[in-house]
Amino acid sequence: MIRSVVRGYGAALPKRVVTNRELEETVETSDEWIVQRTGIRQRYIAGEGETTASLGEQAARAALDNAGLTPDDIDLVLVATSTPNNTFPATAVEIQNRLGMTHGYAFDMQAVCTGFVYAMATADLHIRGGMAKRALVIGAETFSRILDWNDRTTCVLFGDGAGALVIEAAEGEGTIADRGVLTSHLRSDGSHKDKLYVDGGPSTTGTVGHLRMEGREVFKHAVAMITDVIEGAFAATGTTAEDLDWLVPHQANRRIIDGSAKKLGIPSEKVVVTVDMHGNTSAASIPLALSVACADGRIKKGDLVMLEAMGGGFTWGALMVRW
Ligand code: UT7
Repeated sequence: MIRSVVRGYGAALPKRVVTNRELEETVETSDEWIVQRTGIRQRYIAGEGETTASLGEQAARAALDNAGLTPDDIDLVLVATSTPNNTFPATAVEIQNRLGMTHGYAFDMQAVCTGFVYAMATADLHIRGGMAKRALVIGAETFSRILDWNDRTTCVLFGDGAGALVIEAAEGEGTIADRGVLTSHLRSDGSHKDKLYVDGGPSTTGTVGHLRMEGREVFKHAVAMITDVIEGAFAATGTTAEDLDWLVPHQANRRIIDGSAKKLGIPSEKVVVTVDMHGNTSAASIPLALSVACADGRIKKGDLVMLEAMGGGFTWGALMVRW
């Protein structure tokens, strides 16, 4: 059977690092509060000329280099983002153009922090369905541009960045020994839509709006939702936490990451954590974390890796891939 196998990874971060101490100068907060409640120590914030498309392009080029491929080899560009350069056209099309591609097809995916898991699951279906042979799956965000910088309950949490994977069709045996995406589990429940949202949009206010979140409410649901889809992935593949080499979670809050891993019996040495360096970069957080763990040699070919995320909507999902 056809599998979607990871061939390359890449990442991009804005030039400017903003530490918790720097935020203390503009909002009533403290490094101690932020570290204790979230694990975040710093985040990267986009400056002039740095956009979701420019960061996404940079991450895509890095992933292509890592894969030893060029834009000519790609037929699908899929971008997970909630902070597109424009309402339309899709940022994926903008990135396609920046890469000099006039072939293939490109579109955006909107599932907020779960965007990268949704995008990987979608790209996998396109590849297994024979519509594309190779896909660039990108998570790219500039959440700094939709934050209310006077709201300390949200502005300290998020950061900007992008990450990308190149995945390609390869023959597999149809067993969990195959390399590639092995299973994906997507969920959403719109009855929670007012707990994490943006208070504007093209069809309502005609403005971009700002991010609003009832943090405690999101927190309350996070661990149960995350563990539920991960358990679904284990059940579908007949695997357990012991078979897993790496858990690469969405990086929103260290306490959510630790709580989920503990509930699933996954030891902390197997969990990739980058929230301290990047903050919450929404759809970019998983591919950024993957890039860090691949570059430093932790994630290796053949490893069993679980991706998971939960975010606005609510949306949540898990995807198991053999690297
Ligand atoms: O990526 C999408 C998914 N999003 C998430 O996963 C976020 C989920 N939620 C969270 O991570 C946590 O709920 C937060 C980190 C947002 C907040 O942590 P918490 O432990 O739930 O704190 P809280 O909201 O209950 O606030 C505790 C106190 C409040 O003061 P009072 O009412 O107890 O006097 C807040 O006003 O902390 C105060 N507070 C702050 N203090 C200093 C809120 N923000 C800050 C701040 N600095 N930045």
